Amino acid sequence: MRSASVRGAPGKGLIRGVAVAVALASVSLFGHATASSAAPAARVDNPYAGAGVYVNPEWSAKAAAEPGGSRIANQPTAVWLDRIAAIEGVNGGMGLRDHLDEAVSQSGGQPLVIQLVVYDLPGRDCAALASNGELGPDELPRYKSEFIDPIAEIVADPAYANLRIVTVVEIDSLPNLVTNTSGRPTAVPACDVMKQNGNYVNGIGYALAKFGAVGNVYNYIDAAHHGWLGWDDNFGASADLFAQAAKAQGSTTANVHGFIANTANYSPIREPNFTINDSVNGTSVRQSKWIDWNRYVDELSFTQAFRQRLIQAGFESNIGMLIDTSRNGWGGSARPSGPGPQTNVDEYINDGRVDRRIHAGNWCNQSGAGLGERPTAAPASGIDAYVWVKPPGESDGASEEIPNDEGKGFDRMCDPTYGGNPLNGNNPSGSLPDAPLSGHWFSAQFQQLMQNAYPPL
Ligand code: GLC
Repeated sequence: MRSASVRGAPGKGLIRGVAVAVALASVSLFGHATASSAAPAARVDNPYAGAGVYVNPEWSAKAAAEPGGSRIANQPTAVWLDRIAAIEGVNGGMGLRDHLDEAVSQSGGQPLVIQLVVYDLPGRDCAALASNGELGPDELPRYKSEFIDPIAEIVADPAYANLRIVTVVEIDSLPNLVTNTSGRPTAVPACDVMKQNGNYVNGIGYALAKFGAVGNVYNYIDAAHHGWLGWDDNFGASADLFAQAAKAQGSTTANVHGFIANTANYSPIREPNFTINDSVNGTSVRQSKWIDWNRYVDELSFTQAFRQRLIQAGFESNIGMLIDTSRNGWGGSARPSGPGPQTNVDEYINDGRVDRRIHAGNWCNQSGAGLGERPTAAPASGIDAYVWVKPPGESDGASEEIPNDEGKGFDRMCDPTYGGNPLNGNNPSGSLPDAPLSGHWFSAQFQQLMQNAYPPL
C-alpha cells in the first residue's frame, strides 16, 4: 500500500484453468452451518472459481449504516489480523474463530473463500509511519509464537476444513527491502534494520510454512503495485527476494499459491487511453513525468508480467494473482473521456490518465478516488480474482497526530497540507482532510468512494 515512486524508488499486483469471469455472488449471512470433520479437500487451482466469498458482518454493518451504503454492504472484504489481539477480537469485536464460524455458516455447504490479511511483522511498515505495528524490529520470536502459531492452529481446526482460506501474507514488507534501503535515494534507516536482521524474510518464510501445512489454506504474498515495482531496478530484484523468503525457515515455493497486487493502493486496473508503447512526436511516454521510466502504466499489465518474472524466479508455473480493486476505480466527473492531446508526452498522459492522483507515489486516503471493479473471480489471464482487501471506508492513516495504543504513527503523507518528499517526487500528498487513524472508519472517504465508483454503482 505504501507508495511508490521515483524511478527505482518505492513505495507505498490465465486464468488458471477457467476462461469465464464468474461474479462472486454474496451469500446469505444466515446459511446453515455444515458440520465437517473431514480432512481438507485438495487445493484447487483457483480458489475463487465457482466459490462464494465471505462477507465480513462487521464491515458490512458499517457500510450499511452509511447513506447509500446498502448498495455495496454485501460485497466480500478481507478480515485483517493486524495485531495479536485481533486473533481473539479487539474491543469486543469478532475474533478469528468467530469469523471462521460465521464463514462456515455463510457457506451453506458450498465452496466459500474467506480472505485473511496476516499483518503484524516485527518492525512493520518500515518506510512509513501510519501503519507501524506493535512488534519491535527484533521481536521475531513473539511474532512466531504469539501471532503465527495461534493463527495456524485455528485455521487447521477440522471444523474449517471445507473453507478455502486465503491468506494475504504481510503487505508493505519485502518490497521495502528492495526499494527503501541503503544505496537508494529513498533509503529509510528502519528498512535497513529489517534487511540486516532478516526478520521480514524469516517471518514470512515461517508464516508460509505454517499455513502451507494446512491443506485448505492458500497463501498469497504481497507484490506491491506497478507504481512501486514497475521500474527495472525493482522488478526482478523483488521477485528474487520473494523467492528467498518463500524458501526461508523450512518453507518452499510450493507453499505459495500466488501473489496480490495493489493492496490498499489506488492504481487502476487499466489506463484505457494509452499504453506504455505509445509515443508523441517520437518521444516515448516513458519519458513523461507521470510514468517516469516505469515499464507499466496500470495494474493488469504489471501483474501479468510480474507473474511471469515470479515463475522465472522459481515459483510454480500455475501461480495465480489477485488485484485489490477496492479503491482504484477513478470514476466521477474528473475521469477523462478520451486520450490527451498529441502535443507532448506530459499533456498526452496527464489529460488521458484515469488515475487522477497528483503523483503515483501518493498512497494515503487519496482525494478523488472511487471504488474499483466489484470482486470477481478469474477476470483475466493469470488473475485468480479482483478482490476488496482494503475494506472501503477504513482510513489509511490519520491526517494529524492522534495518540493511540495501536503502535500507529503520524505519517505526513496522510496530511493534505504536506508538500511531499522524494518518495512522491516532492508533491502534495493528495490526501483527504480530517482522517482518523489507519483502519478506523472514515465516513467522508466512504461516501467519496461510492460517488466516484468505476464502474459506477
Ligand atoms: C491499515 C491499518 C490496520 C487496518 C488495515 C485495514 O493497515 O494499519 O490496522 O486493519 O489498514 O483497514
